[in-house]
Amino acid sequence: APWAVVFGGPSPEHEISILTGLQAERVLTAAGHDVVPIYWSPTGDWFRVPAGTEAKDYLEGAPRESTPLEARVSGDPGLYRRKTFGAERLDLEAALLCLHGGVGEGGGAAAVFSLLGIPATGSTLFAGAVGMDKLAFGGLMSAAGIPSLPREAVSTLTEPAFEGPYIVKPRFGGSSIGIEIAEDVAAARALAASSVHLRTGAVVEPYRPELVDLNIAFRTFPSLEITQLEKPLRGPAGSALYSYAEKYLAGGAGADAGLTSAPREFPAEVPEAVHTRARELAERVADVTRLTGIVRVDLLLDEASSELYVNEVNTIPGALSLYLWAPQQPAATVLVDALTEARDRRVVF
Ligand code: DAL
Ligand code: MG
Repeated sequence: APWAVVFGGPSPEHEISILTGLQAERVLTAAGHDVVPIYWSPTGDWFRVPAGTEAKDYLEGAPRESTPLEARVSGDPGLYRRKTFGAERLDLEAALLCLHGGVGEGGGAAAVFSLLGIPATGSTLFAGAVGMDKLAFGGLMSAAGIPSLPREAVSTLTEPAFEGPYIVKPRFGGSSIGIEIAEDVAAARALAASSVHLRTGAVVEPYRPELVDLNIAFRTFPSLEITQLEKPLRGPAGSALYSYAEKYLAGGAGADAGLTSAPREFPAEVPEAVHTRARELAERVADVTRLTGIVRVDLLLDEASSELYVNEVNTIPGALSLYLWAPQQPAATVLVDALTEARDRRVVF
């Protein structure tokens, strides 16, 4: 039976998910695998899409010649064995979830596929939900004694435990969408009330422009194997934030250029002790968050003191941002290993 590649979904990161999904489809197809691409629209409809579509085919929704699917849980006792997906009863070996943000990355897709009886890659519902919630994740880090910057919900902010300026982030966001800087609590509150990205929940952290981003990607199967530590390179000097534009539009914005990955330093040119410490922190995050699959932990480094802070975890990291460039193995091998692991895994929750 074929592998499914699932992408899209109701989320601000819909477009990036399309790119990750199509990239994965290309990589698997080029390596000779039988792949069924499945697209989840922003409004929650499922489609089987023709092979070999491109990002521009999605500008007006599902591409032409897509087949609507009905994600239906069968009511008979074979629930966990039958791999039903829609009227044509797609028989799937396992699904590669390439969903970023929203309920897809936030554990919802893990639950849906589990209920459909289709093995799916990635984290459990728990890890997905915690990874998608910056407030819960920050609390988990504090509780586990893992170094991270202080983080508080804007809604309960009266006397923050740290001074401004602040970085204000969507509590359930990703890909730097909607991130702002605020000088003080009043400004943070005003932003949280006015921004469409922040209205569904916002957190503040101290704004520390001297910290640099370090990303560490790894897989957790068959055992934890950390593949790389890299430093995404910031754009023109003076940009205050490592923004969505810098992450994805570095190759030149616009419909023609499309989204590209930001320039990066790989492996990151940091002292060996920082590499070691980063691995150690990533392992602790993986353990306490119960991460499974291919994941990426984002760290912040104070280059002056070599101090590292855990910023966040991406339970479904984007292909553009990183994981398909796992250096030790061809990308198709990494993806097939993930799919095979999902298929053979017994306990889903
Ligand atoms: N949320 C994006 C896709 C990433 O972290 O890779
Ligand atoms: Mg993210």
